[in-house]
Amino acid sequence: MISNFSAIDLLSATLSQADFYSHLPQQRRLYEATRAAILQQQLTAGSKLPSSRNLASELGIARNTVIAAFEQLAAEGFVTTIIGSGTFVSATLPVAPSNNRLDNNTTSTKPSDGTSPLSKRGARLTAFAAGARYEIEPFAPGDPDFSTFPFKLWQRLQNRVWRDARPELLDYGQSGGYLPLRRAIAEYLRVSRSVKLSIEQVMITAGTQQSLDLCAQLLADVGDTVWVEDPCYWGARRVFEACDLNLHPIALDTEGLTLNHTDLATEPRLIYVTPSHQYPTGVVMSLARRRQLLDIAAHKNAWILEDDYDSECRYTGRPLASLQGLDSHGRVVYMGTFSKVLYPGIKIGYLVVPSPLIESFKIALYDLQRPGQLMVQAALADFIALGHFTTHIRKIRQTYGARRELLRKTLAAQLGDDVTISGEESGLHLVIELPDYVDDEALARLAAESGIAVKALSNYYLSQPVRRGILVGYAYVAPEKITYFGKLLANVIQAGVRC
Ligand SMILES: Cc1ncc(COP(=O)(O)O)c(C=O)c1O
Repeated sequence: MISNFSAIDLLSATLSQADFYSHLPQQRRLYEATRAAILQQQLTAGSKLPSSRNLASELGIARNTVIAAFEQLAAEGFVTTIIGSGTFVSATLPVAPSNNRLDNNTTSTKPSDGTSPLSKRGARLTAFAAGARYEIEPFAPGDPDFSTFPFKLWQRLQNRVWRDARPELLDYGQSGGYLPLRRAIAEYLRVSRSVKLSIEQVMITAGTQQSLDLCAQLLADVGDTVWVEDPCYWGARRVFEACDLNLHPIALDTEGLTLNHTDLATEPRLIYVTPSHQYPTGVVMSLARRRQLLDIAAHKNAWILEDDYDSECRYTGRPLASLQGLDSHGRVVYMGTFSKVLYPGIKIGYLVVPSPLIESFKIALYDLQRPGQLMVQAALADFIALGHFTTHIRKIRQTYGARRELLRKTLAAQLGDDVTISGEESGLHLVIELPDYVDDEALARLAAESGIAVKALSNYYLSQPVRRGILVGYAYVAPEKITYFGKLLANVIQAGVRC
């Protein structure tokens, strides 16, 4: 069992690493350091943690900060406090629910101390599994309804491609992807998303994750600053962390990013945004904020990475134009994906890069990723060119729109004015906003006990959570399940809000 003295040393050593969540507030850093030490069994079950007074004094931080971090660990079941005796590592660690930030990573490797097979970066990146495990259970946000995908038609299109399998389609993908697919995407983006582009600017990738990775590697150096929305999409965050960028969280309000003097004093190389439907809050960036951001990016020579991941599913009014379409300085790299609109496993996305970047991105795409799947790209090109893509979008808009409405009604019938529902104008999930005093993570855990895989809004924050809420995905949940699980979820929320 580790002594109090060495527990202090351990936490102090972790926190003194310059790159250990350096962008986070002290309380969150201490929480992460202690949690990691527990998960990696450096602090074993039953060990006593140092007193808040000693730890605060050794680390040179406020005692309240230590108490708040311990309280969070206690609420999540990692430690137990016995009044008069102290705080101890729990004998049974919680099995993390599907909340994205801190899923228990059973394969986690000890940190790089000379005995670890991983690099320091590898250990840091795999200390937590940020992604949700495979979830097809109500109401995990993000998944489309795979059953709406026209399998038979797709099979016919694939067969046709395979019947005259051209050798060049069996090779690695060169020149940014299969040209007819790039052409079809360019046409779609020009018409539906007001993106200004030529076909040469379109590159086919293996999805947004890879698009972000290419951008981070090609456009920023280690230690460069990237502005990210706070709360932020965990996938983007993980890529930037993997590239050793310095994440600078920017707060949001109802119009999008709110840049204060401190933010503006930093010099970002990259600015990652989801302006059409902010992930996870669903906020739509206003025109004024879009213009402001474009001007700032031009002024600071920063690249804006526009992630337009689910804009096809807009239920009210006209689809919103892209940020890229407003840009007159050539500072926006636009990216989209077929994960949401077709099915995630297709792993095809696209980048629209400003003209001066075309050649560099082509080289990097080929040399770093060695892309392939041209046969799938060919079938997809036919799918779009023959009008099936537009038909499919229409169909899912109707299906998901009806499910969204049913979920709203089910929740509103029970919750009434207790909560506000937001972010539901488009996408695959909505947010049930909760009063500040409600512990959304605890509510998500409680919901998990009823087989409901919702996620807590506060999990997505890099800094101290400002808003509390529950993300509810409805796209793939059948109507009868929406009614049944919707009522169960409303019960859980009602209990949490009224207690
Ligand atoms: C904000 C955001 N961007 C992109 C994606 C999809 O990325 P990919 O194309 O890598 O599947 C997701 C998936 O959940 C997302 O939430």
